[in-house]
Amino acid sequence: MSSLPPSDSLPFLSLGVCDYPEHVPQPLWAGYARDQKALGLEFVRLAEFAWSRMEPRPGEYDWAWLDEAVETSAAAGLKVVLCTPTAAPPAWLVEAHPEILPVGRDGQVKSFGSRRHYDFSSAVYREHSRRITRAVAERYGRHPAVVGWQTDNEFGWGDTAQSFSPAVHAAFHAWLERRYGTVDALNAAWGNVFWSMDYSGWAQVPLPHHAVSEINPAHALDFLRFSSGEVAAFQAEQVALLREHSPGRFVTHNYMGFFSAYDHYEVSRGLDFASWDSYPTGTLQAIHEWKLLAPHFALDYARTGHPDVTAFNHDLYRGMVTPGAGQATPSFWVMEQQCGQVNWASANPLPAPGAVALWTEQAWAHGADAVSYFRWRAATVGQEVLHSGLLRHSGRPDQGHREVAALRPQALPLAPTRARVALLHDYESLWLYNLQPHSEGLNYWAQTFTYYRALRALGVDVDILHPDRDLSGYAVVVAPALTLMTPERAAHLTASAGHSRLVFGPRTAFRTAAGGTPETGQFGDLAGLIGAELSRYDSLYAGMTQDVEGEGGARHSAHAWAESYDLAGAEALWHYRGGPLDGEAAVVRHGAVTTVGAHSESLVRGVLRGALREAGVETAELPEGVRLTRRGPHTLLQNWTGESVHWQGRTLAPYSSALLPQEVMA
Ligand code: GAL
Repeated sequence: MSSLPPSDSLPFLSLGVCDYPEHVPQPLWAGYARDQKALGLEFVRLAEFAWSRMEPRPGEYDWAWLDEAVETSAAAGLKVVLCTPTAAPPAWLVEAHPEILPVGRDGQVKSFGSRRHYDFSSAVYREHSRRITRAVAERYGRHPAVVGWQTDNEFGWGDTAQSFSPAVHAAFHAWLERRYGTVDALNAAWGNVFWSMDYSGWAQVPLPHHAVSEINPAHALDFLRFSSGEVAAFQAEQVALLREHSPGRFVTHNYMGFFSAYDHYEVSRGLDFASWDSYPTGTLQAIHEWKLLAPHFALDYARTGHPDVTAFNHDLYRGMVTPGAGQATPSFWVMEQQCGQVNWASANPLPAPGAVALWTEQAWAHGADAVSYFRWRAATVGQEVLHSGLLRHSGRPDQGHREVAALRPQALPLAPTRARVALLHDYESLWLYNLQPHSEGLNYWAQTFTYYRALRALGVDVDILHPDRDLSGYAVVVAPALTLMTPERAAHLTASAGHSRLVFGPRTAFRTAAGGTPETGQFGDLAGLIGAELSRYDSLYAGMTQDVEGEGGARHSAHAWAESYDLAGAEALWHYRGGPLDGEAAVVRHGAVTTVGAHSESLVRGVLRGALREAGVETAELPEGVRLTRRGPHTLLQNWTGESVHWQGRTLAPYSSALLPQEVMA
């Protein structure tokens, strides 16, 4: 990487590593800590799965080994990020209280033998979670080397955010009663007149699984809300204890890419910043799972992951926590960064040479304050023996180690990120959309990612934000799939149109907070802003397409979804040609607001290009696999492909980055 001189005024990207001293013989610890420091690492993350070693028997704590591990790191000049160990309750606790185990959708109790075997609604588990959190926080909370905390580990991993246990059932009933007051109010809100689903008592309300067929989306939506609240409450209890016993340290949680079983904005309340675990080659599976891109992309990027897939999650988690007072810009951490091959995808290719540097620099450019590699030494025991680390099983450096050694974090200052485009994202819209996708080819993430990718291909930096956040200051606001609309949200967006160009995607404002549709049809309270009403929507099988025609005969081909509009003040920019929607409006414009009804990558890119230029946001036309990202005065230009790329008079070697002063790109 060609780089700028170190900045004097700003701190720079901090590198760290996830380490498991409890996995290796103690005589190795001191040498490892010195090697970590010599590699340029600043911190280690410790102990997120170490409960059985912290408390081998009920109430019998053994801190000696962790005391020594913390001291060993500190003596080598490393900072320590400690974790609450609640992702892995010990066997003795499960034996004493089998009711803490979660119950799957199939009604089967998930047994001990892996991790995350607990139910968020178990009062017994919550008590033990508080107890062990207090114990570990009291012991280490004021240790000078301890700079921060990670709560638990990857809430929801292994499909555990929702449980179907008796404890959950009881807590769900109580939650419904608090929310609706009376069963009649619940019947009205859920529309239980449909299929004779009216209840006459709370106890009759089942958990939303095991029904003969489709479950009322209002019921499923409320269960998702309830379950999300349980995760949030679980985390909040730990955060409160960590604040009490570890003043001045940060508290974060490490989320997963594209995970959606709870509302991450809600769960993140009270954190200093969000973190996420970035495994770019493993996350390629999202291309198939969520149909983010055509399947060939997963092969094309098998050794690096796709730049937009990883970048999306950086931008998502950067926007998760609203910056506190005195904090200029949001930040995030990559708490686990892949640094070799993973063990959990359907195949696990070795990363390309240069990939670890590419990933680290990309995370920095998207606003990360720290990147922590997973893990120091490859495990020689347990489920992850096939996973790599910075060191091989033998303890010799692996490829990732060599790439980290060559990095110059001093050239990556923590300048503020300043996107002029906001992309709105909302988990409740996601849930409603994905509960009834109505088209095999499309889902919430796929639709949202289409708009994000178009923006990134145009060289634009993006803040992904909750729709109810302050949007002033953004030149363009893009809401690709904001299907849940409330009167308050509609008023907020309408106010935003006073200062920003707005672009909406299909199925905008199609559902109410209760999970139905507005009485007035799509757009409801947003109709005045859009200047149109929904006419009809067409859902297409793979292989079916719908032509769209614009001014001068320009054409695009829509797939998966096409919705048309009746004009009520707006003008039609694009029309459908052929098929059942022939002649109807496909894209409408009303003042500062453009609404796109057809799902077509090229159409979306064209609409966004126009809106950006109109709003004075500079665009570029980037080749596939080449991306520009700005952080403060710097622009990172990256080539994620295995070929040399020529762009604007520059040549980028395969899998490489160039750090440029921003004005070079202007
Ligand atoms: C993460 C998890 C780590 C480890 C890693 C392997 O999801 O937090 O503990 O399992 O995956 O890639």
